[in-house]
Amino acid sequence: MYYERHIFVCENVREAGPRESCGPKGSGELRDYLKSSVKKTCPGRRIRVNKAGCLDRCEEGPTVVVYPEGRWFRLASRADVDRFVAAYLKNDSVDGIEDLRLPDTHPSRRS
Ligand code: FES
Repeated sequence: MYYERHIFVCENVREAGPRESCGPKGSGELRDYLKSSVKKTCPGRRIRVNKAGCLDRCEEGPTVVVYPEGRWFRLASRADVDRFVAAYLKNDSVDGIEDLRLPDTHPSRRS
């Protein structure tokens, strides 16, 4: 695997329409903050942070997905990013950050 973790942050901006979008909720600034935080706190780790277009979970955003696990999160503030980095990226645990998680399973596959 090329990266240990590949993190995609939706930065889509939807100008008009019935659906919300992540960009106006500050996801661009949060991606920058996440990227610098990863650089500072996880040196030498092969963790890549990239911006993404719409991930089709607009109302749940700012939406973040991490591969290869395919885990989904909602990171809405710098404090959320700090908790995500400390628990998940540094310690490989979702303990204590359950409130940041989004369901990993597509709605069509949930029973
Ligand atoms: S606008 Fe972010 S998931 Fe659709």
